[in-house]
Amino acid sequence: MSDIGPASPFFTGREDVLSELENYFSPQSSITQSYNGKIFVLYGMGGAGKTQTALKFIQTLQQRFTKCYLIVANSEESIKASFYDIAIKNGFSKSSGWEAGLKWIAKLEEEWIILYDNADDPNINLGKFLPPNNHGNMIITSRNSTLTQLSVRSKELKDMTPDEGAQLLLKHAVKSHQPNSEERLIAVHIAAKLHNFALALVHAVPIDDAITTTEY
Ligand SMILES: Nc1ncnc2c1ncn2[C@@H]1O[C@H](COP(=O)(O)OP(=O)(O)OP(=O)(O)O)[C@@H](O)[C@H]1O
Ligand SMILES: [Mg+2]
Repeated sequence: MSDIGPASPFFTGREDVLSELENYFSPQSSITQSYNGKIFVLYGMGGAGKTQTALKFIQTLQQRFTKCYLIVANSEESIKASFYDIAIKNGFSKSSGWEAGLKWIAKLEEEWIILYDNADDPNINLGKFLPPNNHGNMIITSRNSTLTQLSVRSKELKDMTPDEGAQLLLKHAVKSHQPNSEERLIAVHIAAKLHNFALALVHAVPIDDAITTTEY
């Protein structure tokens, strides 16, 4: 069961991070945190692609997890609302508190995964919202590197590689046909100017326009 949507249909690259996540969360992985299951913090600048990479990982390995939940972690209210929702969907009465959802997950004997997305606010004590359960798998995305204290494994998501950057730009900027070699070359130059930064690449203008508007 998943309440997590798919990654972008244009998702590109990030194989290194995806395989690091896969190894970390594999049942064979010996790394566990006795009290809190497995936690992986993906941090980096806004727009680097943290949320998309986490979604892609969960989408690819969905069979492995019996339950997948998305918790928008940008405020305490939002986290509590998500746990309340989980409680209600699992038969608790409307008068239950959000804690019922958290405790329900903590008692699960299955392999669940929660994506705590956009846990950027340093004033939120995220630790109290992590269900204590050693079967659990959690990915936290954050712009805030101090959250790495919550986990044994973390990764900073930076610019894409030049190859990934050009590929992603072409997917957005050339939609009507297979890109030709001139367009590929232009894409490499433009992607470099955009520092191969995911958010900038997906907002790039069509290549034909770029040829006339960008000195590459
Ligand atoms: N690997 C990728 N392939 C395709 N598109 C991507 C990729 N990574 C990011 N994007 C696109 O770039 C934009 C920003 O990505 P995303 O929302 O994942 O960034 P983020 O690091 O979570 O940012 P924020 O800190 O603001 O939440 C989105 O439009 C997303 O679709
Ligand atoms: Mg995000």
